[in-house]
Amino acid sequence: MIKKIAIGADHAGVEYKLLLVQYLESKGYEIVNVGTDSTDAVDYPIYAKKVCEEVASGRVDTGILICGTGIGMSMMANKQKGIRAAVCGDTKSAEFTRLHNDANVLCMGARIISFDLCERITEIFLDTNFMGGKHKIRIDMFE
Ligand code: RB5
Repeated sequence: MIKKIAIGADHAGVEYKLLLVQYLESKGYEIVNVGTDSTDAVDYPIYAKKVCEEVASGRVDTGILICGTGIGMSMMANKQKGIRAAVCGDTKSAEFTRLHNDANVLCMGARIISFDLCERITEIFLDTNFMGGKHKIRIDMFE
């Protein structure tokens, strides 16, 4: 069960990130917020790396990254060892990337989806468990 979440954003995602932190804390999750916390322009790979370090070390159960599109964050995240990051812009992708890919980092684009959808995608991502079995054999091929 997911209890502890690392979350990061760049300037394009900071507004959603701060709202999501409030929402997740109200649901009882423990949050490690790696920044950024202002709208001053920053480089998203820095925050992607920080969140991935938390996830890969096992200090948190999962990670969330928000930038303008979610794409840059996911590209950087997927270069980090042990990370399976998925950009989700719909709830079905969020469900299936947990069921089949055991994704451990959720990436979203604040310039792409509404905050309501971002919240819903996050809920489903956090509440869905990996199926294992043949899907475990497949994700083991990533390493
Ligand atoms: C920042 O302008 C933007 O490039 C970034 O937030 C993200 O969308 C990159 O993939």
